[in-house]
Amino acid sequence: MIEIKNISAQETYAIRLEVLRKDIDLPYKFNGDLDKDTFHLGAFKEDKLIAVSSFMKVKNRNFKGLQYQLRGMATLTQYQGFGIGKQLIIKAEKILKPLNIDCLWCNARVIAVDFYKKQGFKTFGEVFDIPLIGGHYSMYKYLT
Ligand SMILES: CC(C)(COP(=O)(O)OP(=O)(O)OC[C@H]1O[C@@H](n2cnc3c(N)ncnc32)[C@H](O)[C@@H]1OP(=O)(O)O)[C@@H](O)C(=O)NCCC(=O)NCCS
Repeated sequence: MIEIKNISAQETYAIRLEVLRKDIDLPYKFNGDLDKDTFHLGAFKEDKLIAVSSFMKVKNRNFKGLQYQLRGMATLTQYQGFGIGKQLIIKAEKILKPLNIDCLWCNARVIAVDFYKKQGFKTFGEVFDIPLIGGHYSMYKYLT
């Protein structure tokens, strides 16, 4: 049984480090982590935190309306492919819709693009490089 709960920024750091920053010397703390509009979600299996994602009220000029950016999406390797990332996004959308947020967007690693497509996101524009990580696409999903 997987439970999705709000967690603190601090609680996301261990999984961000392990899954997103392994051998990558980039910050695992993000600007906006502690902003008042930011929220962080965690997936728990029997009280063990196994996946995290963060949602920040950041506008991207390529998209319309009120927006949130999805960041730091990561599921521990041994739990990937069991629908947990999907549950985090479903929960985030349930939180964002009553806030009248029009668009959820992210900068997706090329290897994760198909995961986001399955959650209804579309790519915007061309692939771009983030040094030390690699190719990314901006992706978006209108919620309204
Ligand atoms: C990308 C990631 C967050 C997905 O989380 P997850 O818990 O494994 O995803 P889910 O099991 O909920 O996957 C939902 C669907 O997407 C598919 N999927 C998951 N990751 C995928 C990927 N990298 N490529 C293609 N499809 C993928 C699953 O097979 C599943 O398909 P289904 O609905 O047809 O069964 C996770 O694999 C991860 O942490 N990857 C490493 C870090 C990373 O790349 N993060 C994203 C940075 S932008």
